[in-house]
Amino acid sequence: MSDTFTTIKPEVPTKPVSDPVLIHKPLISQEDMDSVRDALASTFVSGDGPACRQFEKELQEFLGIRHALFMNSCTSALDLAFRAKRFKPGSEVIVPNFTYTSTALGPLINQLNVRLADVNPDNGNLDPTKLRKYINPNTVAVVAVDYAGNPAEMDQIQEIAKESNLYLVHDTAQSIGAKYKGQYTGHQADASTFSFHGTKNMTTGEGGALVTNDDDLAAAVKIMREKGTDKYSFLTDNITRGFYEYKDIGGSYVQSNINGALGVTQLRKLTEMNNRRREIAHRYLRELGDIDAIDFLRVTENAEPNWHLFGILVPPGQKYLIMDRLRERGIMANVHYTPLHRNEYYKHLGTDEQFPGSMSFFNRLLRIPIYPVLTDAEQTRVIESVHAVLNSI
Ligand SMILES: Cc1ncc(COP(=O)(O)O)c(C=O)c1O
Repeated sequence: MSDTFTTIKPEVPTKPVSDPVLIHKPLISQEDMDSVRDALASTFVSGDGPACRQFEKELQEFLGIRHALFMNSCTSALDLAFRAKRFKPGSEVIVPNFTYTSTALGPLINQLNVRLADVNPDNGNLDPTKLRKYINPNTVAVVAVDYAGNPAEMDQIQEIAKESNLYLVHDTAQSIGAKYKGQYTGHQADASTFSFHGTKNMTTGEGGALVTNDDDLAAAVKIMREKGTDKYSFLTDNITRGFYEYKDIGGSYVQSNINGALGVTQLRKLTEMNNRRREIAHRYLRELGDIDAIDFLRVTENAEPNWHLFGILVPPGQKYLIMDRLRERGIMANVHYTPLHRNEYYKHLGTDEQFPGSMSFFNRLLRIPIYPVLTDAEQTRVIESVHAVLNSI
């Protein structure tokens, strides 16, 4: 592979620019500030409060799903997606090699082993044509990830999981509001996990949710996210009369009511924010489409991405040069997801040669800014800079 480990950290220092076009920026509006202020004024600032419940109710309605369980991160949701299943320690979970560490942490912190799987070279999602070869008698689960908010090929993945009786987790951290076959992501697996981190299409500051149609899974997660207690019913159900019990082990994963309040107002404008991202993405596709040296990420068939990220695929040996030149012009392009096996903690899990799809994608991928508050003038700067840089090399 042309990109060696040493080139991952570029040598060229980038000059500071006075008005950079940032890679992420959340849209925080007056309603968000009012909502947070009201939550504070209510003095209910601790976990799983009325605003959290309201957010969960609206998220369930939005997705059309039975359970949406709000918590402090997608990483926590991934942890509980596995903890609740009580798989035998040492069992194997298939995880895409091109993802964020949290996808693997879910199984790992539950004493399960991770088997890394290769991804499509043209969009970074799990490659279903290679999936069967990773399954062995010890495999209990598979995780699919929607890179950049572009849904994975869930029909094929579901079919393979079903034929081997595997638990299917969908790490939808990036894909809130994206659709697969006309249905929002969140429906295509036994459990799906969203992130509402500050960089995501909607944010609660930090935050995440596990969503599922499985009542038993939801009941177990409600207890495990609240330190193993059944405090959930204590907060809402008068019959328990102020008593709650320690039922299991668990983590302290519920969200503050302040974050819940932000979730409510962010969710109410999610579709509008995603529509704006789509407009920007289509502008990039139109106005960068004539550059022969670059490709775009393949959109999954029958899917509607939420355009969480916008990636361009550049000639492999030139990725860092192009990134540095864009940054010199104030376009804060960046690289993403160093494949798991190239990180210190995961390096024993494989070599470049074992993941040709992942390495090819990583060697070509550069991200350019996309978010609802990116102005038309900033988009123009991005487009002109990409043209200028690609013309100059
Ligand atoms: C695919 C994926 N999974 C999980 C996470 C972790 O999300 P959180 O920060 O909410 O724990 C991220 C974060 O960006 C992610 O991209």
